[in-house]
Amino acid sequence: MIPIASPSIGEEEIKVVKEVLSSGMLAQGEKVREFENNFANYIGTKYAVATSSGTSALHLALLSLGIGPKDEVITTPFSFISTANSILFCGAKPIFADIDPKTFNISPEEIKKKITSKTKAIIPVHLYGQPAEMDEIMGIAEENGLKVLEDSAQAHGAEYKGKKVGSIGDCSAFSFYATKNMVTGEGGMVTTNNKKIAEKIKKLRDHGRTKNYEHDELGFNLRMTDIQAAIGIEQLRKLDEFNKKRRKNAEFLTKNLDGLVKTPFISKGVKHVFHQYTIKTKNRNKLLKKLHKNKIGAKVYYSKPIHKQPLYKKMGYNDNLPVSETISKKVLSLPVHPKLKKHDLEKIVKTIGGQL
Ligand SMILES: Cc1ncc(COP(=O)(O)O)c(C=O)c1O
Repeated sequence: MIPIASPSIGEEEIKVVKEVLSSGMLAQGEKVREFENNFANYIGTKYAVATSSGTSALHLALLSLGIGPKDEVITTPFSFISTANSILFCGAKPIFADIDPKTFNISPEEIKKKITSKTKAIIPVHLYGQPAEMDEIMGIAEENGLKVLEDSAQAHGAEYKGKKVGSIGDCSAFSFYATKNMVTGEGGMVTTNNKKIAEKIKKLRDHGRTKNYEHDELGFNLRMTDIQAAIGIEQLRKLDEFNKKRRKNAEFLTKNLDGLVKTPFISKGVKHVFHQYTIKTKNRNKLLKKLHKNKIGAKVYYSKPIHKQPLYKKMGYNDNLPVSETISKKVLSLPVHPKLKKHDLEKIVKTIGGQL
């Protein structure tokens, strides 16, 4: 089977995990601080705060922006459910704005239509590794006094007009889940240039602790461990190399599949890091069956937009978001990860009907 995702773990990660295990410090310690410093340097922000997952990074980021009950937060319905659920965790209401059919990212024009007096923030998602339209989104936020939280869970190292994603909004959340462009197993990070946001998240991830066993607000245990951080430090060193391979694999697929299926559109001025290589095809089920029969692990992200999920339907959502609803029936992601060999890529192309 050619898997849709496969973490690239080398001797380096194994060595540092052994070192941490022998050190006696298994919880949040020096390695977490080192990973945070290195990640902030890489993204180009003053601060980075590590958390237990991408979901907890989103949750704590929203709390640090002051989002709470009665607030509305605008986001995309075409993402992993975590993006919208993090808004619910704060007691606030997710408001869905439809997407652009070419980039699959939230449409700035649709955001404008959804702003009310209750809107407090926007969460654009850099879906599949392609940056959202950040200039337009930051402009809308500024005009309307809104905060922007970038969901960069799928876009480590992606760039928008020369800036790394995660350095543009008020803050940004990353995930290091096992399938991501860099991994720690489970894990997350918030990046920001705002000291208050960084300090608030550090406190909230640690039971609202001010000093030794003194707590002045209700927090959580959403910390990262030194074991995860040690893996993250090594993965970050390799991230540019991983992304280079993903981009090269994507280039090969596009060169050989263009015309047969709708290959990924790349916006002007962005560096797409291909967390997913996602095509559009009318005969999705037929193609999916053929790929699986040939042991190619193609997958659909996401077959149901968030507002159509049973949880959201139960809450009374019945939005009409035609682009997301149509796109969710057409998209299909093909393996693009850095461990693919030339013969794997050739097999994918041939199975879809490409000539090499
Ligand atoms: C767009 C997006 N947002 C948020 C998350 C949540 O991250 P995690 O699984 O680390 O909680 C993920 C990944 O799973 C994601 O793809």
